[in-house]
Amino acid sequence: MQELDGKHIVLGLTGGIACYKSAELCRLLVKAGATVQVVMTEAATQFITPVTMQALSGRPVYGSQWDVREPNNMPHINLSREADAIVLAPASADFIARLVQGRSDELLSLLCLARPAERVPLLIAPAMNREMWVHPATQRNLRQVDADGARVLGVGNGWQACGETGDGRMLEPAQLFEEIVAEFQPKVLAGEHVVVTAGPTFEALDPIRGITNHSSGKMGFAIARAAREAGAEVTLIAGPVHLPTPRGVQRLDVTSARQMLEATLGATQRASVFVATAAVADWRPASHSEHKIKKDGSGQPPVLHFVENDDILLTVAQGARAKAGELFCVGFAAESENLVEHAKAKRARKGIPLLVGNIGPLTFGQDHNSLLLVDADGVRELPRAPKLMLARELAAEIAARLPSGRQR
Ligand code: CTP
Repeated sequence: MQELDGKHIVLGLTGGIACYKSAELCRLLVKAGATVQVVMTEAATQFITPVTMQALSGRPVYGSQWDVREPNNMPHINLSREADAIVLAPASADFIARLVQGRSDELLSLLCLARPAERVPLLIAPAMNREMWVHPATQRNLRQVDADGARVLGVGNGWQACGETGDGRMLEPAQLFEEIVAEFQPKVLAGEHVVVTAGPTFEALDPIRGITNHSSGKMGFAIARAAREAGAEVTLIAGPVHLPTPRGVQRLDVTSARQMLEATLGATQRASVFVATAAVADWRPASHSEHKIKKDGSGQPPVLHFVENDDILLTVAQGARAKAGELFCVGFAAESENLVEHAKAKRARKGIPLLVGNIGPLTFGQDHNSLLLVDADGVRELPRAPKLMLARELAAEIAARLPSGRQR
């Protein structure tokens, strides 16, 4: 089962140098199981040839509303009715202005106007020079297409083909792919604000060394991504990890357990769900040496003293908002044996409605995992699968447990 199996995407290209990235986007969509029908404006064909896009999509490209290949000669109706989504990448400033006006004198704008809006989402990936991007006319047009029901995916920042640097670059193919996949996920957490802690913490001994663990943060990042795909606003509080931030997720980077506690207490003030996946260090050095701890020549190792870190999950779960049922808390347990007993005991000890157990050595750094859900009704296993798949299942499980009325 691939991410986009059974999905049919109309990929519309308009005139812009970012067309070169659309070739890669097309490839990613096809690789993920989608069928892709490319439609190009005449301006787009100045930047990339229909031959390239046909070869990558495996289908002849459409470019004219008078295409005689369609028996009824209505490609705008046929193409927009078949689609599960229409993606405009790149969408030029001019094309966005044309959408605002409802223009329809060429095939791509015509099929956008003709799309059945209630079941075919229109995703727009703008691409233009930074001055064009910030121009009030462009910003006004973007607000209007958004109000008219399209989803504007945003732009990147950086070096532009014109030699200038700023906002207006088309998002990278992998980012657009992530947005398209997200569009198809059920919005089970719409209206919720989810806070996730992820990764290890690092407890410094001196400026050079410290205590940490092997947590990669992958499960927490997958949960943040899945929650955002499910329609939630997401704050991800990340310990020191080298993972890209999922699209649309607000990330707060922290190092120590104390910083993670402070960030979590702040973020959960207005959250409705808290998922604690971080492998928080239980102990921190009692004192932090300002300079590197040196060997003193005696052959004796230094004596280190530790103090216990606060339990972030426990602190949040005992807070007023969790007690009042306004904040649903989910804990994780990484064990090395007796998972069921430890997970049950940990759920009771932390006073939380849902605890997710896994075997630490089988998950740390891996892309796959299996999870054990422990709640008041008992124990249920989510069998081994990619972490993102498990995260999506967990998002649905959390949504199903939210107090009725809040569940969408
Ligand atoms: N946790 C936390 N703050 C801590 C320790 C743990 O928020 N200082 C959270 C973790 O994010 C996880 C859960 O508590 O959701 C369980 O963490 P784990 O390390 O498995 O359990 P501990 O409570 O530390 O218990 P033990 O060391 O006995 O296994």
